[in-house]
Amino acid sequence: EMMSNLSGIRQLEHDLKQLMGIAEVIVIPGDSDTATFVKEELGKACADRLKSSLNKDNIIAVTGGTTMACTAEMLTDELGEKRKLLFVPARGGIGEDVKNQANVICATMAENTGGSHRVLYVPDQVGREVYESLLKEPAIKEILQLIKASNIVLHGIGDAITMAGRRRTSTSSMKKISEENAVGEAFGYYFNENGEIVHKVPTIGLQISDLHVGRKVIAVAGGKSKAKAIKAYMKSAPDQTVLITDEGAAREILKVH
Ligand code: BG6
Repeated sequence: EMMSNLSGIRQLEHDLKQLMGIAEVIVIPGDSDTATFVKEELGKACADRLKSSLNKDNIIAVTGGTTMACTAEMLTDELGEKRKLLFVPARGGIGEDVKNQANVICATMAENTGGSHRVLYVPDQVGREVYESLLKEPAIKEILQLIKASNIVLHGIGDAITMAGRRRTSTSSMKKISEENAVGEAFGYYFNENGEIVHKVPTIGLQISDLHVGRKVIAVAGGKSKAKAIKAYMKSAPDQTVLITDEGAAREILKVH
């Protein structure tokens, strides 16, 4: 049974941080798999944590997903007071529904904070030749430079099979994802239990290696169903990562119920 008292939560945060070797872990009481308000609390916690990470001038790269969409709703104009906030999608289209796409989420974040946003127009699943010519477009080049200059990254983490199913994933990629035993996914990269990348959705924008160089990184993911995914991703996550998760995921990862 869940014991949502404060000292219990602090213990979970401590133990997860220890296990994952990352900068900080914030645990929200409850389980977002079964209670929608817990996902909203994850979003609020992300807004708070983001606030303390901001400079005067910020470029914030954001991924897609329902958690980030929910986070966008929780941001307020207090965040944008006396600061410049520019929201950009972390990567090009990776097969999400419009409402869960980073472009749309960035627009909402900008609107709610009085910031601005830029859109990265890249179609899903295009061939190499089309990509190469897109990369030569000045407008695309410009936004790619902004993405590379981002000082903060906000991203979700998904269960691998759930994400592959939700996206337009080709049969051959589906096969690869399951044969390679992928359990976790983050911004289009699929990870096995050891945190090794076993598949990557080909698109432009932030690559996983970009996370490791001097950016603040906030990962938001909760729910018991994401326990394996979060644990796997954190095996190779950048040390400076701040994880915002919930009690459902935390207890499942640590096997304390
Ligand atoms: C995707 C992101 O859009 O959403 C991923 O690119 C993330 O980084 C996934 O893993 C998570 O989705 P959700 O709906 O579980 O928050």
